Amino acid sequence: MDGGIAAVAMGGAGLLTGSLTATFGREKPGADAKAKQSAVPAPAAAPVTVDAASVPVGGSAQVKDPASGDAVYVVQPKAGQYCAFSSVCTHSGCAVDAPKDGRLYCPCHGSRFDAATGAVVTGPATRPLPKYRVTKEGDKLHLGPLEAQGGS
Ligand code: FES
Repeated sequence: MDGGIAAVAMGGAGLLTGSLTATFGREKPGADAKAKQSAVPAPAAAPVTVDAASVPVGGSAQVKDPASGDAVYVVQPKAGQYCAFSSVCTHSGCAVDAPKDGRLYCPCHGSRFDAATGAVVTGPATRPLPKYRVTKEGDKLHLGPLEAQGGS
């Protein structure tokens, strides 16, 4: 009778071992998939998109250049015309204020830039603000690459 119980116990152990093997066997492909995912290079910086409704005519929305981390003003100087300018003043690198009355003002030394073109209106800055391409798709605005650097 004792032998019968031992055989049942061993059989139970066998079932248990088989169960553990099966469990580990199922987890292994998942672990491999994770290893493969970590080997994939990180994607490029996410595209920057804003709601067109958040950029009123004459106003702006502030976003961030994913490459530089600098603040960027997306503006709509005329109805349906969208563009964007770096907030980094081309004089000495201060942050210009958000567009107001068609101008971007730098509080450091008083430069003013045209909010429709980025051109210098009043120095001491001599180079325009870097301009980004903006494309409209439905009710979304997508920040594109820099169209022109602030100088040369
Ligand atoms: Fe903007 Fe000097 S840094 S005017």
